[in-house]
Amino acid sequence: MKILLIGSGGREHALGWKLAQSPLVKKIYCAPGNPGLAELGECIDIKASDNPGLADFALKHGIDLTVVGPDDCLASGVVDVFQQKGLKIFGPTQKAAQIESSKAFSKDLMWKANIPTADYAVFEDHKKALDHLNCQRYPLVVKASGLALGKGVIICQNQEQAQAALRSAMVEKAFGASGNQVIIEEFLEGQEISVHAFCDGRRAALFPASQDHKQAFDGDLGPNTGGMGSFAPVGWVTPEMMAEIEKAIVMPALKALSDLGSPFRGCLFPGLIRTSQGFKVLEFNARFGDPETQSYMMLLESDLAEILLSCAEGRLKPAEIKWSTKSAACIVAASGGYPGSYQKGFEINGIYSAQEGSGIKIFQAGTSKQGSKLVTAGGRVMGVTAVGHDLESALVNGYEALKRINFSGMHYRKDIGRRGAGK
Ligand SMILES: Nc1ncnc2c1ncn2[C@@H]1O[C@H](COP(=O)(O)OP(=O)(O)O)[C@@H](O)[C@H]1O
Ligand SMILES: [Mg+2]
Repeated sequence: MKILLIGSGGREHALGWKLAQSPLVKKIYCAPGNPGLAELGECIDIKASDNPGLADFALKHGIDLTVVGPDDCLASGVVDVFQQKGLKIFGPTQKAAQIESSKAFSKDLMWKANIPTADYAVFEDHKKALDHLNCQRYPLVVKASGLALGKGVIICQNQEQAQAALRSAMVEKAFGASGNQVIIEEFLEGQEISVHAFCDGRRAALFPASQDHKQAFDGDLGPNTGGMGSFAPVGWVTPEMMAEIEKAIVMPALKALSDLGSPFRGCLFPGLIRTSQGFKVLEFNARFGDPETQSYMMLLESDLAEILLSCAEGRLKPAEIKWSTKSAACIVAASGGYPGSYQKGFEINGIYSAQEGSGIKIFQAGTSKQGSKLVTAGGRVMGVTAVGHDLESALVNGYEALKRINFSGMHYRKDIGRRGAGK
């Protein structure tokens, strides 16, 4: 099989690394890829947003399966463009991807399908949204409906903060057109988990549960980032809980999308919160999580290429997918200043010696090559990912490997996985 992988982050490096282990896979092209992916395949100079260019490449090079990483590619309809040309691709169509790209669509779908989620109202009119605030309890949550790079959700402690959030999203257009519709929803309390499922339109195969760490600093302090680390599985999530999540959340969402005439083929990733009334959906994502995928790929024992192809062809066999019973953790090393402004171009040392021990893999994200040197080129530079017989040993291995790596300004969280054991 020849594979085309779209994207350039740590998630794509992890997917590419796992795909490269498949005996079915003869060649991997990455658009645009990164230096980590360049070691596994051939990086091509086509932007992840160039849908016609990508489809032309796939036709010309006889690509058997294209795998899409980023949310905005899915939202732009890359899957539809490929399918129109008869090309196989793993990911939902533009219509099905609305479950992530439009929170208003997603909430409406959940409400109709009886999927547990926070109470909400959707507004396009600023004045009506302001009036709604008068009869609410606080804290509450204001969300831009569209994609907003993880910045479109504002937790408001009182009415003044909510008014300011509405002004920012609806009047000042801080999130551009993504704020044309705004959701005002009930604030929920509890532990969050990430659930992922391979889906073929009708069937779903759930991964073990995982958690990520969004805030920049230890103790969940500081601004939100793209994700500073992840681990899987989550110790307190029982098989009964996973069965309930499948029955009450994943399968009804698949059925609802299928009933709308847009079956979901791809990775469905609901973000859940465990409230006193059980799990509720915070949002649905229509792709693999980053950095959850880095941890997951260390645990997946089955052939990823075969799974993704079977999803694209509508013949997934959930019972055949095998996961290791070990634990994995990913610790993100970020540029100094991230998620604020940061400098690039610092030399990265130690990345190869850090991987010498078994069970360690470093997935590159914001890196680039300057001659033979590897240098920083983004906020999240890499994810140091480790397996162990339990979470604690995965973390020990990961932090040990991290000690060998350095670049100017490097920062990382020291408490990845510390929420893992407790409730
Ligand atoms: N209703 C809610 N109650 C409490 N916290 C929430 C709520 N909705 C979102 N959050 C918090 O905000 C984060 C981001 O929200 P989410 O809906 O996942 O949007 P996105 O990932 O697109 O930014 C969540 O991970 C959660 O921590
Ligand atoms: Mg989220």
